[in-house]
Amino acid sequence: VAKVIFPNVDSDEARNLALEWETTFAAIHDGVAVVDGEGKIRRSNSSLALLLGRPLDALTGEVCHKLWGSSNVDRIPFYPVLESRRRQTVEFEYQSKHIQLSVDPIVTNSGVVSGAVYIVRDITETRQLEEQFRESQKFETIGTLAAGVAHDYNNLLTSIMGNASLALNDLPEQHPIRERLDDVVRASQRAADLTKQLLAYSGKGRHYLQKLEVTALVRDTEKLIRAGAPKLVDLRFELGSALPPIEADLHQVQQSLINLVTNAVEAIGEASGTVLIRTGKQDGREVFIEVVDDGCGMDSAVRERIFDPFFTTKFTGRGLGLSAVAGIMRGHRGRIEVNSASGQGSTFRLFFPCVVPAPAREPAEVLRETATILVVDDEDMVRRIARAALEPRGHKILMASNGREAIRQVQKNRQIDLVLLDLIMPVMGGEEAIDEILAANPNLRVIVSTGYDERETSLRFAQKRVAGFLQKPYTARQLTEAIRAALAGE
Ligand SMILES: Nc1ncnc2c1ncn2[C@@H]1O[C@H](COP(=O)(O)OP(=O)(O)OP(=O)(O)O)[C@@H](O)[C@H]1O
Ligand SMILES: [Mg+2]
Repeated sequence: VAKVIFPNVDSDEARNLALEWETTFAAIHDGVAVVDGEGKIRRSNSSLALLLGRPLDALTGEVCHKLWGSSNVDRIPFYPVLESRRRQTVEFEYQSKHIQLSVDPIVTNSGVVSGAVYIVRDITETRQLEEQFRESQKFETIGTLAAGVAHDYNNLLTSIMGNASLALNDLPEQHPIRERLDDVVRASQRAADLTKQLLAYSGKGRHYLQKLEVTALVRDTEKLIRAGAPKLVDLRFELGSALPPIEADLHQVQQSLINLVTNAVEAIGEASGTVLIRTGKQDGREVFIEVVDDGCGMDSAVRERIFDPFFTTKFTGRGLGLSAVAGIMRGHRGRIEVNSASGQGSTFRLFFPCVVPAPAREPAEVLRETATILVVDDEDMVRRIARAALEPRGHKILMASNGREAIRQVQKNRQIDLVLLDLIMPVMGGEEAIDEILAANPNLRVIVSTGYDERETSLRFAQKRVAGFLQKPYTARQLTEAIRAALAGE
């Protein structure tokens, strides 16, 4: 039975109206307080009590603007509102919540300000989401920036690396300058690695992919895992042998494993328990890493939300562990399986696609050692390096500085055997031009050269007849090898 707010009403209709109003007041999700001319609470709803962490009954008679901590008293515009007779809204922190509070004057029929209404809202989550959104926008911007820089940078590095390696070729074995030039090549290789990392961080180059075997990875991570697990937890390993390799970022997969084990250990808590780490393969197409614990387990309501950022049931948790794992698995085109019930422990399984062996390319009809090669790049430096590296090997070199020129040349010159095609160029880029280039001559081979992540690029061109990829920056040796392999149909 709702409390009667208007004790003096006597008709049924009026009583029902009062009840309606009372129910509405109580149902509002925002905290609401009606205060008198001195700011003392006459009425408040349970949402306000919840926000303040105090029983509802205890609030009546309290001065509302003094309830939000001494540091906020002066922020709350109670008197200014009485004076101006206008609503005012403020925001402040209270008990690590982000609070939005507005005060509205109550003006009686006779035009006197008799008090005010407070509406108080916890906007912590909204602010967090805004923050997340800003973060992701920032990443987007950094990504675009990094990708742009990396493109120019890789062209410069191609010139540095290419020239140094060409000069090395011309020097006699014992020449004292060799050492200097070796250093130049090494340093530019490191600079190239740095560009890659920048791209990985920005999310544009994805990550550092390498061939990995998950059992070896788990073994290498064992020390880290043991360090994080308390003595009472029995850590066991059941690791499959001779598993097919996966293509993955070592650190990210390690991080995922550690996050899962940490959760498992935390689910066991103070008690003793077992955490089992398994690896194996499934259907010959996937490899898995599994973490099993006999801890507290999860009910379905928790299980549904575990991958949400900031979802946690722990006092000190941030709720980011599993969101990170989910992000990493997305980046690896993998998937996650979760099995758990309250009190029954949990099983988390990470599945990774195995590396598919590259399909055998059709053998070359003519095995040519020397060829006519069209080098398509907007950077003169890069074109010159290609000429300097390839001409001494007997190749005939033609140049084009964008996709449109390239199309024109292959259409009128049937002698061209191979096109080395850059992706980003003014007027027309490589991706736009490739179909017409390939259509001009069915025997033509195309090598795509790119400053971006090679795997990304090869995925983008998966449907096209591309003879090879060459990651910028490259040495003269890498270039000639790519050309040789493409001509040999490897
Ligand atoms: N092995 C597990 N057993 C029981 N519950 C789990 C297990 N793993 C995760 N959970 C549940 O999923 C929630 C989210 O996990 P997640 O790792 O994302 O965050 P967290 O562990 O709470 O905090 P953080 O990892 O950021 O320190 C946990 O709070 C817990 O309720
Ligand atoms: Mg965690």
